[in-house]
Amino acid sequence: MKTTVISYSFTGNNKALADSIVSVLSAEHITISESRTRTFGTIALDMLFNRTPKIYPAMDGISESDMILFISPVWMGHVAAPLRACFKGLKSNLKQYAFISISGGADGPNPRLTAELKKRLGKKPSTVIDLHITEILPSNPKPTREDTSSYRLNEEDIERLTERIFPPLQEIMTETK
Ligand SMILES: Cc1cc2nc3c(=O)[nH]c(=O)nc-3n(C[C@H](O)[C@H](O)[C@H](O)COP(=O)(O)O)c2cc1C
Repeated sequence: MKTTVISYSFTGNNKALADSIVSVLSAEHITISESRTRTFGTIALDMLFNRTPKIYPAMDGISESDMILFISPVWMGHVAAPLRACFKGLKSNLKQYAFISISGGADGPNPRLTAELKKRLGKKPSTVIDLHITEILPSNPKPTREDTSSYRLNEEDIERLTERIFPPLQEIMTETK
């Protein structure tokens, strides 16, 4: 089964997680970059106005993948905007996909991600694995959005998160075979 990981990361957390998953699965890895410099201001504007930023590389040539694992942060309750361009390019040829994120989690679980993915890709994800930084930080005092957004994963975090992700991923990959 051909598996491709497509990842985007602004501050490095999802990149570190994607690199780890890629090495465990020996999957192909495409990292999304943006043509323009990303700022906190453009995050807010893209999310508020539902804008799709320009990205590279173009999403050609990966339609042969049996499973695509999208890995990106969650911004303002939504999948990070740079993945939207990628979704538009892949939508018509997509076989199976899953969405994985290490997001902040300060506002609790996000039940809207699956519906957003289905709307943007026209198909339900095989799984959504939304990991939270709040589960890494001490629970007392309750981590704030500022605490979670400024946290950078260390090697031990990445190892633990990869171990958590692996069983559900194996399950969907076995089902897809
Ligand atoms: C502008 C902004 C908005 C965010 N909104 C959310 C959110 O709605 N829910 C959430 O769980 N995390 C949110 N986060 C936290 C990020 O998802 C988290 O810091 C993530 O690990 C960053 O990933 P990256 O390092 O790969 O860019 C937000 C972060 C930023 C900068």
